[in-house]
Amino acid sequence: MAKQTIRDADVSGKRVLVRVDFNVPLDKQGRITDDTRIRAALPTIQYLLQHGAAVILVTHLGRPDGKVVDKLRLDPVARRLEELLGGTVIKAPDSVGPEVRQIASGLRPGQVLLLENVRFHPEEEANDAVFARQLAELADVYVDDAFGTAHRAHASTSGVAAYRPAYAGFLMEKEIDTMGRALENPERPFVALIGGAKVSTKIGVLNNLLDKVDRLLIGGAMANTFLRAQAYDTGKSLVEEDKVGLAEELLRKGDEKLLLPVDVVVASKPEAGAETKVVPVSGIPAEMLVVDIGPETIQTYADVVANAKTVVWNGPMGIFEVPEFARGTRAMAEALASSQALSIVGGGDSVAAVEQMGLADKITHVSTGGGASLEFLEGRTLPGVEVLRNAD
Ligand code: 3PG
Repeated sequence: MAKQTIRDADVSGKRVLVRVDFNVPLDKQGRITDDTRIRAALPTIQYLLQHGAAVILVTHLGRPDGKVVDKLRLDPVARRLEELLGGTVIKAPDSVGPEVRQIASGLRPGQVLLLENVRFHPEEEANDAVFARQLAELADVYVDDAFGTAHRAHASTSGVAAYRPAYAGFLMEKEIDTMGRALENPERPFVALIGGAKVSTKIGVLNNLLDKVDRLLIGGAMANTFLRAQAYDTGKSLVEEDKVGLAEELLRKGDEKLLLPVDVVVASKPEAGAETKVVPVSGIPAEMLVVDIGPETIQTYADVVANAKTVVWNGPMGIFEVPEFARGTRAMAEALASSQALSIVGGGDSVAAVEQMGLADKITHVSTGGGASLEFLEGRTLPGVEVLRNAD
């Protein structure tokens, strides 16, 4: 369902509350190690400022569990945003309360206020109506640009829309349009590449995509559960025993659409420096474990990706954090980067992989959502999207 965006809103002279997802990774010193999510929200913030709005940003950072946690304060985020915007960002001491109300009501067009971590209040995750109203009353209009948090029905992502007209920001628009187009009206062949450790976390995605794609390529440790379902010995590999039956069902449902590795890299330990070898899936040694897809599988999968018109990738092909086991993941990132297809990468690990490899700008769309992109690919309606005004 298409949603109204900030282009449809009259924001001139208004205070606009923008839910962003500035849940960025921090190192031990509290420094931001990846500012992608902050940069991704800039087009929305800049558009609103250029159109005469005062912008009030609201986000969470980490999981403080309804309490004030000093190391999850948003000061480093405010500083980084100032650098990126090239202007002052006023940092509020809290997300609600009399002092914040006073600062918000004094804002002038062109000013930016960043509220303190909204999850310092338990009412945020409880989607408390009074709290949502307090947030809403700071502004005239509500904009949601936090695709990464759109799968959470929280006060700042969902509840607030009951009190103010709610529009999508540009990042939200791009995420739901690009992924929606792939799922609803893909140019074919439509290929999905699904990896990661566990079948259990991807059941919804596998089920939804099997109905839509022309080919579904499986990699990562979750492939082991499928191999077990095909009666192969998987040695010491991670296998979800209780999901073997489900893998059998998916294999039946997938029929010829579903491709599994034909060869794999096995290692004595899941660690750098371990002894490794390439074996066919029929020859996994009892004392070793699968750590990556093998060269023949890489070739087959890369050929399928090269011929696709639409590709969706979620989850690495092996333990890519260990460089010796990253060949499959790297090869898939390269295959997507060099393909002419509409390519979409979603999910924390596969996004980290394309970014580490410096290939993100060669992918049509790298989602800022981890859990959110997974739920979107499952075909679920995300609460943070549902509350936005429909385009019609
Ligand atoms: C994310 O990083 O996936 C989002 O910011 C949501 O965070 P959460 O899983 O803590 O709700």
